[in-house]
Amino acid sequence: MLRLSNLTAGYDTVPVIFNISLEVAESELVAIVGSNGAGKSTILKTISGLLKPFSGEIEFLGKKIHKLTPHEIVKLGIAHVPEGRHIFGKMTVKDNLLMGAYTIKDEKKIHKLLQDIYDLFPRLKERENQKSETLSGGEQQMLAIARALMADPKLLLVDEMSLGLMPVMVDKVLETLKKINVEKKVAILLVEQKVQEALEIADRGYVIQTGKIVAADSATALLNSELVRKAYLGL
Ligand SMILES: Nc1ncnc2c1ncn2[C@@H]1O[C@H](COP(=O)(O)OP(=O)(O)OP(=O)(O)O)[C@@H](O)[C@H]1O
Ligand SMILES: [Mg+2]
Repeated sequence: MLRLSNLTAGYDTVPVIFNISLEVAESELVAIVGSNGAGKSTILKTISGLLKPFSGEIEFLGKKIHKLTPHEIVKLGIAHVPEGRHIFGKMTVKDNLLMGAYTIKDEKKIHKLLQDIYDLFPRLKERENQKSETLSGGEQQMLAIARALMADPKLLLVDEMSLGLMPVMVDKVLETLKKINVEKKVAILLVEQKVQEALEIADRGYVIQTGKIVAADSATALLNSELVRKAYLGL
């Protein structure tokens, strides 16, 4: 579904990710794990068109997308939940959700998407008229994911959803992502510093260190690998 080939990208003229090649298949849940500053967010920003690659290619559903605008990329079916959530605090929960559907013109479809989202996140339905900034951290993260789903994506990019959440909330949000993946068949590319938690729900994973992929395997194999156990799990 998604294929990155030898992608190099960065800021101004300075590359921070080098020759990244990775794939996500239909309905797959793939994790990119690594430490602070490894380049995880940079990979997602390049896929969603916020950054243009210096070299290499990105293909989505058979179409080259690395020269398209973020808007065109959303329309093709890729939605990005950015690091830090970026929800609009002064707006209600419902208005934030409706913003997520900005590429969709069909009112009936928007209504249907909203009902589906409320089925999946009953807490957001209960709070639809509440100002978003008054939600708890976990609820805000759910809202950020829900808003991305309002674009009706085929592929969801999720950046560091664990940030600022207590461990029990991290597990809850990850469970929700797994549910979206399995029940709604939305493919997910997740980036996380919480290596163990992410690999526990993923099908496959990539380990990134200083901008380079240093391991790629099934999530189970990575969890049992010497590299992951030593460098990230402290075992
Ligand atoms: N807007 C920017 N301008 C210049 N350099 C940047 C910018 N954003 C990130 N960088 C640099 O690019 C490198 C990779 O950053 P990136 O945000 O992709 O890391 P990350 O793996 O997402 O880290 P974290 O886990 O802390 O979120 C870092 O060295 C960072 O300082
Ligand atoms: Mg990041």
